[in-house]
Amino acid sequence: MILSARNLKKTYIDSDQRIEVLKDASLNVEQGDLICITGKSGCGKSTLLHIMGLLDAPDAGKLYLEDQEVTSNSPSAPQIRNQKLGFVFQFHYLIEDLTALENVSLPLMICGESEGKAKSKAQELLSHLGLAQRLNRYPNQLSGGEQQRVSLARALINNPQLVLADEPTGNLDPSHSQEVWNLIKSLNQELNQAFVIVTHDIETAQTADRVYELTDGVLILQ
Ligand SMILES: Nc1ncnc2c1ncn2[C@@H]1O[C@H](COP(=O)(O)OP(=O)(O)OP(=O)(O)O)[C@@H](O)[C@H]1O
Ligand SMILES: [Mg+2]
Repeated sequence: MILSARNLKKTYIDSDQRIEVLKDASLNVEQGDLICITGKSGCGKSTLLHIMGLLDAPDAGKLYLEDQEVTSNSPSAPQIRNQKLGFVFQFHYLIEDLTALENVSLPLMICGESEGKAKSKAQELLSHLGLAQRLNRYPNQLSGGEQQRVSLARALINNPQLVLADEPTGNLDPSHSQEVWNLIKSLNQELNQAFVIVTHDIETAQTADRVYELTDGVLILQ
């Protein structure tokens, strides 16, 4: 088991309102799983993914990575995030004063790879995503869909065992969306990388190994 989320609960308190977003959400991810999560806007998909990516803490419930309990504030969390997990944000959060190539190289360099090797691997991956002509552009010089693909490349560059992706095709037109799905599928099959993908694209979601709907704070297998 790569990741196991057990009985997660999360409530937001917004002035006088309590929003119980996660009530009892559980999910097991095995090596090589391709899992899609769907659900209505505002039902808590991003919240769930952030908790699974150690970016946020649940109010209750536990998270295990390779059978070891982990929390977002444990000292090893940053290293786990950088080496074992790849995260594609719904709103990509690229570093504005780094180019596409530098944004994608960064996680490798943090792991100790030389700049030259990191950049050549980043270039290869970006080219694979159709961005060979955009390597030296800054995020504000890229379209929303291009930024999203740079963000996907940044999540994949360290060959993480598990990639958590929040609507990775949300800003893409159908042909680029298909390209991204094809890349995800081939990485999943060739490298046995696991993916948990939040998507509104029900048709594509049906091609995953398992599809869950997040509804009323609980994940239901479809
Ligand atoms: N920091 C916060 N404080 C208060 N409420 C929040 C906070 N973050 C999220 N929420 C609320 O929690 C609910 C779940 O938000 P979340 O972003 O997880 O939904 P989502 O399923 O990802 O929606 P979408 O499909 O629109 O991206 C929403 O009602 C949102 O308004
Ligand atoms: Mg969301």
